[in-house]
Amino acid sequence: MSTPTMDEAAKVLADPTAYADEPRLHASLAHLRANNPVAWVDNPPYRPFWAITKHADIMAIERANALFLSEPRPLLATAEADDFAKAQLEAGMGLRTLIHMDDPHHRKVRAIGADWFRPKAMRDLKVRVDELAKRYVDRMRDIGPECDFVTEIAVNFPLYVIMSLLGVPEEDFPRMHKLTQEIFGGDDEEYKRGNTLEEQMAVLLDFFDYFSKLTASRREHPTEDLASAIANGRIDGEPLSDVDTASYYVIVATAGHDTTKDAISGGLLALIENPGELERLRNSMDLMPTAVEEMIRWTTPVKEFMRTAADDTDVRGVPIAKGESVYLAYVSGNRDEEIFDEPFRFDVGRDPNKHLAFGYGVHFCLGAALARMEMNSLFTELVPRLESIELTGEPELSSTVFVGGLKHLPIRYSLR
Ligand code: HEM
Repeated sequence: MSTPTMDEAAKVLADPTAYADEPRLHASLAHLRANNPVAWVDNPPYRPFWAITKHADIMAIERANALFLSEPRPLLATAEADDFAKAQLEAGMGLRTLIHMDDPHHRKVRAIGADWFRPKAMRDLKVRVDELAKRYVDRMRDIGPECDFVTEIAVNFPLYVIMSLLGVPEEDFPRMHKLTQEIFGGDDEEYKRGNTLEEQMAVLLDFFDYFSKLTASRREHPTEDLASAIANGRIDGEPLSDVDTASYYVIVATAGHDTTKDAISGGLLALIENPGELERLRNSMDLMPTAVEEMIRWTTPVKEFMRTAADDTDVRGVPIAKGESVYLAYVSGNRDEEIFDEPFRFDVGRDPNKHLAFGYGVHFCLGAALARMEMNSLFTELVPRLESIELTGEPELSSTVFVGGLKHLPIRYSLR
């Protein structure tokens, strides 16, 4: 195959700083959607890939899950990190979560935790989540009139919910939070543990070490929590392997709160920057479900996942060879002018809102209903009590090529 030419705009997708600079990012993505929706990106230290920026193409690729596989490259990492992760897995120590797996194994592993996130489980949890939302809004009032909404409120509420569901004791919540930031924040100076792969791998080993003790304890004394369901989960009559068990905890513990914190804090910023929409919501609280959905589209905390072609194929007529990877640019799909009216307008009543922030198809976010419920509870408590709110400094976004959002949101407010 001759090497395709690269559109310079597509480099933003392989540049962690781009997601911290939204005007630059969105200008490049709009250009790609219009001119080069299946764009070749070759920007070391990443291996090359095809950037998919149109909503319809992202959906079609996710739907074709026997042709576009999650293995061996489920997300963008440097070539060195990809090789390191592969070697670790071969040595029986790496990370192999649901997002790394393909069917039929993926379906069986997903089923082990799925009941915990279904509507019935959500209804059972709602009272508790509402109570927690009230507790965090009360805390916001008590520490007011100023706070950093990200670090003092948005992080802690979803962390509390998911860790309680998992069955982690409260004294360990801060440790889980730090490990999650280190895992997702490997590209961010403020969050990353170190510069070497070994230092970053040590984060995973800390997680594994913690969760192997939890597994042993739940196998010996099963309790009524998700940790017990995972520890005692079986596939075709056999217990989950050690790697699959530890990885299951890691994905729930990490995906279950940092993402939601990004959607909550970015959602609040959107309300501050669009006071008319805040007022509209306050006056019609029945718009809360569409408002929450719009906050999730607006922030798109998970920037990408990848798939690798199992066979020669094409997307929009562009040939994709077997073994080449496609990058699903959710942030771009969620601003696609062909799908969304005025995609750059934040509209709390947007309906329909077929955003891709939770992905699509067999890997569709397991915790989507939980994230929606948490956000609904928090903003239902917060919005009617908010008498005034303004920024007191520049909001700051994290550098990432995977999961990210606001690191700091300094605000002044008055709360009833
Ligand atoms: C606003 C918050 C959240 C966003 C934006 C988000 C986004 C996503 C995305 C984009 C995917 C991949 C979907 C795909 O490949 O098609 C995913 C998968 C997943 N999410 Fe979430 N997520 C959020 C909250 C949560 C929560 C609260 C949990 C709770 C445990 C969770 C657990 C998972 C798991 C386990 C998967 C893997 C599913 C699979 O591969 O089968 N997520 N999420």
